[in-house]
Amino acid sequence: MPDREARISGELYIGLMSGTSVDGIDAALVDFEPSRPKLLGHCYQPWPQAIRDRLKKLSQPGDNEIEQLGHADIAVANHFADVVSELLRQTGIKPWQTRAIGSHGQTVRHRPGADHPFTLQIGDPNQLAEKTGITVVADFRRRDMAAGGEGAPLAPAFHAAFLRSSVEYRVILNLGGIANITLLPADPKTGIIGFDTGPANTLMDAWIHYSQQHRFDAHGAWAARGQVISELLDRLLDDNYFKRPPPKSTGPELFNLDWLNQYLVNQSNYRPEDIQASLCALSSHSIIQAINQYAPDCERVICCGGGTRNPVLMQQLQQGLDATVETTAEHGIDPDQIEAMAFAWLARQTLQHLPGNLPDVTGAHHPVILGGIYQAWTNDSEKVDPAC
Ligand SMILES: Nc1ncnc2c1ncn2[C@@H]1O[C@H](COP(=O)(O)OP(=O)(O)O)[C@@H](O)[C@H]1O
Ligand SMILES: [Mg+2]
Repeated sequence: MPDREARISGELYIGLMSGTSVDGIDAALVDFEPSRPKLLGHCYQPWPQAIRDRLKKLSQPGDNEIEQLGHADIAVANHFADVVSELLRQTGIKPWQTRAIGSHGQTVRHRPGADHPFTLQIGDPNQLAEKTGITVVADFRRRDMAAGGEGAPLAPAFHAAFLRSSVEYRVILNLGGIANITLLPADPKTGIIGFDTGPANTLMDAWIHYSQQHRFDAHGAWAARGQVISELLDRLLDDNYFKRPPPKSTGPELFNLDWLNQYLVNQSNYRPEDIQASLCALSSHSIIQAINQYAPDCERVICCGGGTRNPVLMQQLQQGLDATVETTAEHGIDPDQIEAMAFAWLARQTLQHLPGNLPDVTGAHHPVILGGIYQAWTNDSEKVDPAC
């Protein structure tokens, strides 16, 4: 197929991402040659409800965790392998044409503030390498943590490499379960910082699931029907996390229904849709506050992640910020694929012996080469291209 051969440079990587929303797995096939990453294909598979429930349960302390973790580690790897197979089938690419998979894994616990700080992503890379026949780079976060960092966020290095401008101050805003920002000043001599601002979708998802058994608030329609309860919003915004200076990172370990319930005690008069509206406002206000405080000169906020499909959230951001608000689509990068693309790039950094963390972002003492490498087993005779 001459067309396809012309498109492939031999620098193909697959990025695999499943974020804190536990919605599903994103797989992106990325070509890194000549210079800008080019998305050749992508595939999304939602988690089956049973495994989603197991993963959510595992992200909170519970019974028999080691046994549960062991099973989930393999089950998640099997799903990752299925998504990779489907991506390869759709794109017509053979495993040997790719250099590696960068697999973020599914976070089941992120405790950067613990006495012994730790973070845990599952989806056994040994299984993934065996099942796909592709080298896997995985376990990206723990080396940064070992170097004194939060282990998160890691996408900022990718944002800096491909979305920084020399003429305007940009902020990249990822609206996943958690919201994280990367501040990209125009002056290349000014350092880059980035951090988790707090919830983006995770509390809205949890509240609509609890109240209405929907997985998420499609297009923010339920939040749009409610009125923001300003005294509740003020109390939520008073949480210490929003006041802490960066570096900082968080997850559903903190921002969950238990966290919300502390503020709802004796408040049975609140309407559920007003609580949803207040949670949406909590996300937008905490993001706006963080950008205004740490990037007051920002001219453009470039958004990605599932929250870009929530027009209520997007409108509040546009109204509250003194900058143009748009998505990465305006810059040629699919907002739903950028995180998976970032992990494809991080795998490439690792194989090229280059660091993947930004110490000013994560708080690490120094840049580090991230992740472990799980080599593909290859029978060289299988690598011979039958077309040659
Ligand atoms: N059509 C939509 N309307 C509103 N919110 C949406 C829509 N589609 C996705 N989302 C939100 O985006 C979340 C998934 O975003 P994603 O970027 O995949 O997050 P994560 O990285 O945490 O997995 C969903 O849980 C949901 O809250
Ligand atoms: Mg997701």
